[in-house]
Amino acid sequence: MDRVLSGMRPTGPLHVGHWLGALENWVKLQETHECFFMVADLHALMGEYERPAEISKNSTAMVIDWIACGIDPEKSVLFVQSQVPEHCELAALLGMITPLGWLERSPTYKEQLREIVGRDLTTYGFLGYPVLQAADILLYRANKVPVGEDQEAHLELAREIVRRFKHLYRADRALVEPEALLTKESRILGMDRRKMSKSYGNAINLSDPEEIVRKKVQSMITDPARVKATDAGHPEVCNVYGYYQVFSSASTVKEVHDWCTHAKKGCTDCKKTMADFLIGRLQPMHKKRREILSALEKDKDTISKILEEGRKKAQKIARQTLEEVKGLMGIGAVRDFKGRDK
Ligand code: TRP
Ligand code: SF4
Repeated sequence: MDRVLSGMRPTGPLHVGHWLGALENWVKLQETHECFFMVADLHALMGEYERPAEISKNSTAMVIDWIACGIDPEKSVLFVQSQVPEHCELAALLGMITPLGWLERSPTYKEQLREIVGRDLTTYGFLGYPVLQAADILLYRANKVPVGEDQEAHLELAREIVRRFKHLYRADRALVEPEALLTKESRILGMDRRKMSKSYGNAINLSDPEEIVRKKVQSMITDPARVKATDAGHPEVCNVYGYYQVFSSASTVKEVHDWCTHAKKGCTDCKKTMADFLIGRLQPMHKKRREILSALEKDKDTISKILEEGRKKAQKIARQTLEEVKGLMGIGAVRDFKGRDK
């Protein structure tokens, strides 16, 4: 069976973009693959090292979001990266063979340095971001890695590291070249028509209660040419129409097109109907979330127990790979000066 590993950084509440862009796919993969889903708290620390307090809170919240979406701890292994120290160890070993140029040339690295202001990312750790990510994947010999297009370069780097490792140590089996399962960018935008993102404050969160979802939908930008209700609208440029395309049926989309272009319905009404569709789709998640929250009330360790189970399963595999890698690199075992095993 193919093995899948993927991870997310616990940087805040998950939103509808995460669901459509990743989680929906993860939930499906559980049925056909052996899945490992990792809370990438060390990767979060690379960006948030000045304010690390939120990371562990966000980790628990993120796992609740995952389970609410249908990630099933009975089917998949859910674990926290920093609880399996083998990730750091393998990253250090892979760092020995990763040329600096590969990291400096990484498009994500260059982009982040340019775009992220107010945080100093010129750290050793941040440059090594893709090396740690490679370690995450290689420890489990995962051959499939579902990621967004923004992570494609990191996957390629992991593959290059594997090839270099095989070449240097004439080792064929210890590490497996992972293949990306590219997930398309989420098809919907934030309330302001920019990419949905926590940092833009334009996201509809999976944990938002119904009233908040309705409020956010009402604040969405529509066709700017439709000033009065009697003005004909252009659905193609309207964000709300995009949501209909994702959350309602083909026949509804047709209806919306008609009432918009013929000014039969105003935007407030149109948004209200869209919110009904969206809330309908979020409802199973809200139900599941309530179940988790009441389980947490009875036993506050519910989530930590799931993660501890996951850690055990993950670490068992991680240890084996790491031992093999160390053996091939010729370290770990103590030998006497004549090279005999002690
Ligand atoms: N870098 C990924 C992101 O920001 C998260 C991540 C960390 C990851 N380790 C991983 C994804 C391993 C896939 C596989 O989205
Ligand atoms: Fe958008 Fe609906 Fe208004 Fe048309 S009627 S502009 S689709 S919100």
